[in-house]
Amino acid sequence: MSLDSLPPDFAAILGQSGIIADPADMEAYLCDWRGLWRGEAMAVLRPASTDEVAACVRLCAREGIVIIPQGGNTSMVGGATPEAKPRQVVLSLARMNRVLEVDTADMTMTVEAGLVLANAQRAAEEHGALFPLSLGAEGTAMIGGLLSTNAGGNTTVRYGNARELMLGLEVVLPDGSVMNGLRRLRKDNTGYALRHLFVGAEGTLGIITRAVLRIFPAARETATALCAVPDEDTALALFRRFRAADEGAVRAFEYMSGIGMELVTRYVEGATLPLSEASPHYALVDLSASREGAGLRALMETVLEAAMEAGEVTDAALAESEAQRAAIWRLREEHPEAQKRAGASVKNDVSVPVSAVPTLIREASEACRALIPGSRPVPFGHMGDGNIHMNLQQPEAMTAEAFLARSHDIMETVNEVVRRLGGSFSAEHGVGRLKTDMMAEWRGGAELAAMRAIKAALDPKGIMNPGKVLPGDA
Ligand code: FAD
Ligand code: MLT
Ligand code: ZN
Repeated sequence: MSLDSLPPDFAAILGQSGIIADPADMEAYLCDWRGLWRGEAMAVLRPASTDEVAACVRLCAREGIVIIPQGGNTSMVGGATPEAKPRQVVLSLARMNRVLEVDTADMTMTVEAGLVLANAQRAAEEHGALFPLSLGAEGTAMIGGLLSTNAGGNTTVRYGNARELMLGLEVVLPDGSVMNGLRRLRKDNTGYALRHLFVGAEGTLGIITRAVLRIFPAARETATALCAVPDEDTALALFRRFRAADEGAVRAFEYMSGIGMELVTRYVEGATLPLSEASPHYALVDLSASREGAGLRALMETVLEAAMEAGEVTDAALAESEAQRAAIWRLREEHPEAQKRAGASVKNDVSVPVSAVPTLIREASEACRALIPGSRPVPFGHMGDGNIHMNLQQPEAMTAEAFLARSHDIMETVNEVVRRLGGSFSAEHGVGRLKTDMMAEWRGGAELAAMRAIKAALDPKGIMNPGKVLPGDA
């Protein structure tokens, strides 16, 4: 499909200002980061302002053309890529990438939706502040995508998900009208909190164009350690020790398995284990404080010493410099890339109550091994908020195709454990197109009916990212 299939006045109205991408450059927008989905589009639209987004949406609404909003296209669930269907466009926010204001009096930052997360962090830093959202895709993922998925990441344990970092939103609705909720108020109880509808909606209700975000005082002191721990229970016990010692200091607490660490050090150039021996389990502890002289190094050492005495930690490497801190974080953040290089994997982005994390890891790993002998469970992630990526790597002696053909069984096997533990099948990546078939069972009845009613009210023509989130609305 090509530009030619767009209605003629699209080019006349949008063509002048460079909104319609060169067809030769479309490929990157049609395929997802994992390489699992590739679709088609009549065009990729790249508006540079809210008015241009609204103009695009009005034209698509008039013609009943489907719109797939796209940010950094790092979705793990196929949320931002088009399907192999006619009459759809990808609408990329990439040109709306400005920081509009950083306000250190009110501790807010107003930005456009296409701003890359790392640039948002940098802008806050330049003003002596902190935008705390942090995840492996931060060099690519954009504010609109992060809000639309209610992204979590490494710092949820301290600062919450993307939703908690948002005060106001501007959204272009599916009829092309603009909802201006770009307020910066900490308190605002004036009817339905509409802005929250669009957070986690994965582009199915409208297009986020600008946002007011919360910023925080910059960290003046940090302490980071990679710990070898004997098992899942001791990893959790270590988290509890830090939480009890000073909950406010824990910026991140991440779990990694021996297999995951082995993949990272094997497949990622320059990634080395800063410990004398490999361990079956690891915990990454990151402490930070905005106060100088907070004594985090001493806190880290005291807690680790007690944990070692109790047999909860067998070895630990404490970062002595920013470079060492970054190297430790790299071992954690390169897990997705290492898994990608190591062959096919099935991702299970699940959450359970924090106390149930050890049971989840053990039982889901065992169930996966029993389902596919030779498969390698690679559990890792955000232990401090009960969100573990219960990923499964293909057996070395199996083809990627044969392994991926079992995706559904693998996800169901993990979900069976998650269900028993009172968890969720999607903690932070969203539903996208990958998990729509889980919605009826997990969010069925009145919940799903209410979601459908909201969708029908805001998007009666069903042009906003159909086939994502809600089952059977394609
Ligand atoms: P996209 O992938 O482009 O889009 C995601 C969804 O939002 C789609 O449904 C899309 O239609 C919609 N959308 C995008 N922009 C808009 C907009 N402006 N208005 C309305 N809808 C929009 N996620 C986590 O939560 N935590 C992690 O720790 C984490 N780690 C990751 C590590 C790696 C290496 C990778 C590749 C991904 C990781 N992710 C993680 C997943 C991903 O980065 C997040 O889901 C992120 O929020 C997506 O942002 P994006 O800009 O790439 O959005
Ligand atoms: C991460 O936390 O690194 C990603 O969300 C997990 C994944 O790739 O499965
Ligand atoms: Zn994650």
